[in-house]
Amino acid sequence: MPNEKNVKFYIRRYDPLKDKEPYLRSYDVPVSKGMVVLDALHYIRENLDPSLAWRYSCRMGVCGSCGMLINGSPTLACNTQIFDISETELTIAPLPNFRIIKDLVPELSPMFEKHREILPFVVREESELDDPEGEFYQTPEQLEEFLQFTFCIKCGCCMAACPTLATDPNYLGPQPLAQAHRYNKDTRDGGRKARNQITGSNDGAFKCHYAGECSRVCPKGVDPAKAIQIMKRQLVFDFLKISKSQKPCEKLKGPGKGEKKDIPPAPTYTVQE
Ligand code: SF4
Ligand code: SF4
Ligand code: FES
Repeated sequence: MPNEKNVKFYIRRYDPLKDKEPYLRSYDVPVSKGMVVLDALHYIRENLDPSLAWRYSCRMGVCGSCGMLINGSPTLACNTQIFDISETELTIAPLPNFRIIKDLVPELSPMFEKHREILPFVVREESELDDPEGEFYQTPEQLEEFLQFTFCIKCGCCMAACPTLATDPNYLGPQPLAQAHRYNKDTRDGGRKARNQITGSNDGAFKCHYAGECSRVCPKGVDPAKAIQIMKRQLVFDFLKISKSQKPCEKLKGPGKGEKKDIPPAPTYTVQE
């Protein structure tokens, strides 16, 4: 492979204030090994076209803001090596299933609103925050039940890939549903009943066709499709009132007083003052 190669980028442009409809514009970018799509976008803006708009922040696959459609697949621009997908040309468009603010910038608010709706936090009936009595002990096995689903960075790639959402914008979608499942499976949580009202509604989990596209494109390995199928079974069991009760977290006796079982000690400091 040569050190540097000209790659043609076909980018979908659209400024709702000026353009009647989206159009494609091409740019030649000198690409060297190690460059990701985000680097090429920076090159274009700095050298060829300062009007190109996209969203990014962390440059390391953590903030979830650079999701876009690269060669037809929703993924992160900062996490996509150009030479891994093409040495000649590639196309970039904004994430489907979202309104476009400008060029490659999708309006993600509907996803965030749905996410907020499913109570994405540990719900407690008691008021430990006001009057803490002690810590909650969770076993590694209990953590394992939901750990995978905590890796979501809210990039929206799964929502962009979902064929159900493409035809029905009211469907909650894989991101909020996977997060509802994440909290439902947390032994510290008592919010499943309240979440069921939303996840089991007409726009909830049962609209999922299990096409699995959401899990295929997720850059963090969250597997929302799996979360949704487990959730469907749980919803049916809850409806029939035959669910096994989830073993609640054991409360330790008091701050700093309880004996933690099977938890390794904290690592020693590596930086000396
Ligand atoms: S589940 Fe995956 S694809 Fe969907 S928003 Fe979270 S990180 Fe992105
Ligand atoms: S598995 Fe369900 S949520 Fe995921 S893409 Fe398919 S229909 Fe959408
Ligand atoms: S810039 Fe943060 S995930 Fe890509």
